[in-house]
Amino acid sequence: MGRCPACDEWDTLIEEAVVPVGSSPTPSGQTLAYADVDNLTFERIQTWNPEFDRVLGGGIVPGSVVLLGGEPGIGKSTLLLQIAEILSARGTRVLYVAGEESSKQIKMRGDRLLVEGSNLFISTETCIERVFEEADKIEPGALVVDSIQTVLSEGLQSAPGSIGQIRECALRFLNFSKQRHIPAFLIGHITKDGTLAGPKALEHIVDVVLYFEGDRYQNQKLVRAVKNRFGPANELGIFEMTSQGLKCVDNPSSLFLSERAENVSGSVVFCAMQGSRPVLVEMQALVSQTNYSTARRTATGVDPSRVSLLLAMLEKRVGFNLLGSDVYVNVAGGLSVAEPAADLPLVGAVVSSYRDLPVSPKTIVFGEVGLAGEIRAVSSAFTRIKEAIGMGFEHVVMPAGNLPLPEPVKGIEIVSVSNVEEFLEAVGL
Ligand SMILES: Nc1ncnc2c1ncn2[C@@H]1O[C@H](COP(=O)(O)OP(=O)(O)OP(=O)(O)O)[C@@H](O)[C@H]1O
Ligand SMILES: [Mg+2]
Repeated sequence: MGRCPACDEWDTLIEEAVVPVGSSPTPSGQTLAYADVDNLTFERIQTWNPEFDRVLGGGIVPGSVVLLGGEPGIGKSTLLLQIAEILSARGTRVLYVAGEESSKQIKMRGDRLLVEGSNLFISTETCIERVFEEADKIEPGALVVDSIQTVLSEGLQSAPGSIGQIRECALRFLNFSKQRHIPAFLIGHITKDGTLAGPKALEHIVDVVLYFEGDRYQNQKLVRAVKNRFGPANELGIFEMTSQGLKCVDNPSSLFLSERAENVSGSVVFCAMQGSRPVLVEMQALVSQTNYSTARRTATGVDPSRVSLLLAMLEKRVGFNLLGSDVYVNVAGGLSVAEPAADLPLVGAVVSSYRDLPVSPKTIVFGEVGLAGEIRAVSSAFTRIKEAIGMGFEHVVMPAGNLPLPEPVKGIEIVSVSNVEEFLEAVGL
C-alpha cells in the first residue's frame, strides 16, 4: 500500500519480515558486567586526505558506518572512489558495491581520478545477500555502497529504495561492519527538501552522517559531519572539484574572501567557526526600497528567522525604519553559518547597506546580539582573532564580554563593544 489508510500520508508504511525468535541474522547480544567488557582500542585509519580525516574527527574508525548524503551529481561517488583508492594503495582490500553505475562507468571515472585500484573490487550486485557472499570471498577491509537506495534484501517484498528496504539493508551493513571490524561507507540520496531519502531512522542507525553542502554548481564542495559518534560534530571539510576529482583546499579563508569587492557598502568580514576550524567569510547585505506592498526578506547561508529578529531589534533599539525596504542577506561562497556569533556582522552588513557606507575591509567582526541590543560573548574568540591576524586583518570588533583574552595578542587592534550603538560607532556607521 502506498498510502496509509489511517493518516492518509504517502509512503509511510514500512514492510517488516516476520523473523522467528532465535533466527535473527545477528548473534544474540550478551549481558556483561561493565567491568568485564574488554577495552576496545582502535586506531583511526588516516587517509592522508586532511579534509576527509578532519570531517571524520581524525581519520576512519574501523567498524564504523559512515553515511554520505548529497544532491545528485555533487560528487559523492567521486569522493568515495578517491578514498577507496587511498585505502587500496595501502593494501586494504576495498569492495565497492555499485548499484547505480556499471563497472565500466566506474572505471571511466577512476581513469580520470588516476585510480590504480590494485586492491579495489567492483561489484554491481544489488541483492544484499549476494553482496555478503561476494564479501566472504573477497574478505574486504573496507566497504563502499553506492547507493543504499539501490540495494535490496530478498527477505522483503518491497522495491529497492522503499523505507523498509533501506532500513533493513542499512542494519545489515551495520552488523556486517561491526562483526568484521571494518569501515563501511554508504552513499545516500537526498530528496528535494534536502533530507536523506528514506526514514530518518537511517541517520540514527549509522555512526557518522556526512552531508555535501552548498551549491552543486559551485566548484567548492563542502562536506559537513552532522553526526559523529567518534568525534566532534559540525566539522567541515572543504574541497574543490577538478577534473582529477576533489582536491583539498589548504586555506579556506583566502578562498572565501578571494572575490571580495573592497570598499563596497553592505559587506562585513566575519570569522566563523566551522567545527574546530576558524574560517573567514564575507557577510553581505543589500537593503533597497521595496516595490511590493510587503517588503521582502531573503537570507542565504543564515537562518531567515534570525534575520527577521535582528531587523526587528534594529527598528526598536536603534530606530531604523526598514518597513519599506527589501532586505537580502547572503554569506558569500555558499557556506552556511548557524552560530550566534554571526549576528553582529549581519547587523553590520545591513546597516552598512542601509546607510550606503562601507566598513573597512581590514576589519573583522563577530558577536552575538540580544533582543535588547546588547552584545554577548561567543565561543572561541581567541581562535578567531588568531585567524584574522594570520590573514592580515588590522582591526577586530568583538564582544566586551570576551575580554580578557587568555593570552595577549599582537598585530591587531581589538575594539570591544557591549551594545549595538557602540558597535555601529566602532565600525564607522
Ligand atoms: N571531466 C570533469 N572535470 C571536472 N569535473 C568533472 C568532470 N567530470 C565530472 N565532474 C564533476 O563530477 C560531478 C559528478 O560527480 P559524482 O558522479 O561523484 O556525483 P554523485 O554525487 O555521485 O552523483 P549521483 O547522485 O548521480 O550518483 C559532476 O557534477 C562534475 O562536477
Ligand atoms: Mg554517484
